[in-house]
Amino acid sequence: MPATVILGAQWGDEGKGKLVDRLAEQASWVVRFQGGNNAGHTVVIGDKVLKFHLLPSGITRKECNLVLGDGMVVDPWVLNKELTDWEKSTGEDPRGDRLYVSERAHIILPYHRFMDSLDSKIGTTGRGIGPTYADKINRIGLRFGDLSEIINDAQWITSTVVRMNASLQAAGSEDRVSEESLSADVNWIWDNYNGSIGNTGLMVDNALKLGEHIILEGAQGCLLDIDQGTYPFVTSSVTSRGNASHGAGIHPGHVSEVIGITKAYITRVGHGAMPTELEDADGDHLGTVGHEFGTTTGRKRRCGWFDMVVMRHANRINGFTGIALTKLDVLGGLEEIKICVAYELDGKEILEMPSSASAIARCKPIYISMPGFPGHSLSEWLEIAKKANSDGIGFKALPAAAQNYISKLESLMGVPCTSIGVGPDRDATIDLV
Ligand code: IMP
Repeated sequence: MPATVILGAQWGDEGKGKLVDRLAEQASWVVRFQGGNNAGHTVVIGDKVLKFHLLPSGITRKECNLVLGDGMVVDPWVLNKELTDWEKSTGEDPRGDRLYVSERAHIILPYHRFMDSLDSKIGTTGRGIGPTYADKINRIGLRFGDLSEIINDAQWITSTVVRMNASLQAAGSEDRVSEESLSADVNWIWDNYNGSIGNTGLMVDNALKLGEHIILEGAQGCLLDIDQGTYPFVTSSVTSRGNASHGAGIHPGHVSEVIGITKAYITRVGHGAMPTELEDADGDHLGTVGHEFGTTTGRKRRCGWFDMVVMRHANRINGFTGIALTKLDVLGGLEEIKICVAYELDGKEILEMPSSASAIARCKPIYISMPGFPGHSLSEWLEIAKKANSDGIGFKALPAAAQNYISKLESLMGVPCTSIGVGPDRDATIDLV
């Protein structure tokens, strides 16, 4: 069976974790292929709220194997905390049993966090992501597969500490690392993970040859992609389809299905322009009803109307075969709903996302308007979703105005919706195909 790719189609936080958790029921492997613990995935199962930053969302399915893939940057201490929490609540330590860390994945060390804490320009998550990718690109990074060779290499420790401290000093940081701390760190990482480090690309390739179903789980979103996003206000990895197979260590021919996830509106955290951002009562409604606070940093997310320019761009880069629309319920109770179909830039109408950050900041949204639909409680939405699925009536279970909104989005996107999320619960999703 081929691989399915799940990708954010906006600026992240679209609800990838919930979708992966649902789809993982049918999958044998879930593979993260980029990013690190800048991501935050929330999965709600009954009254349990699970938050993951590194563990692939398929962890909740006991039969599912999990990979932190080649293209990732991994903070071993954050991973350890998530594993400890998981073990406390389930009794399971999946390390080396069904959780594998790629020998090619890069390690986030305290030095990288110190460097990232100096950021004030981008509004990063401060987790050391950019500095770790910078070391990777500079070919001085530390990979899990290198650990066995460097733990007893005193020269590596000395020269690395000299380099790191020189960089910290040059960047104006007061933090420093020492030979003792670096040596202790790499020894601790080795002791904790040596049983789960492996050639994960080969494992996934073998599973594909056996006909198993693989999910490649994206983090962040297309507009945060280092090449295709709103540079420089982006993350430091390729978040898009082109990197899904590559960062997992398999070839792109394995991918048959690419699901783009998008909220029924849009949000963004961190700096950088967001043309449909709302600073009015509708924006407050989206933020409050949608509980729009970052899973990783707790920062308030900026909220706005659905942006078709963003979606057009994301679809061109990723070629979505289907769209998972999330958080439709959040729009409930608004009198009017808007969709941005184009921008006005310096007096001209444009349909495509400009590459320049200052041009994006000058873009004014051009909207079409649609009637809103009534609000419901979360339990009412959950019932609507359950009924829609059990009766096989799909989005016909929704209020007429909500159906019209979805149909309009589908016709503007040119891609069908495969599911509609109407609440945080695992079952609050209407399956359309
Ligand atoms: P970094 O990935 O920590 O370097 O942050 C770079 C930019 O990406 C900042 O604007 C962050 O707020 C944003 N970002 C990184 N990860 C996520 C995510 O998972 N969701 C939403 N925004 C993110």
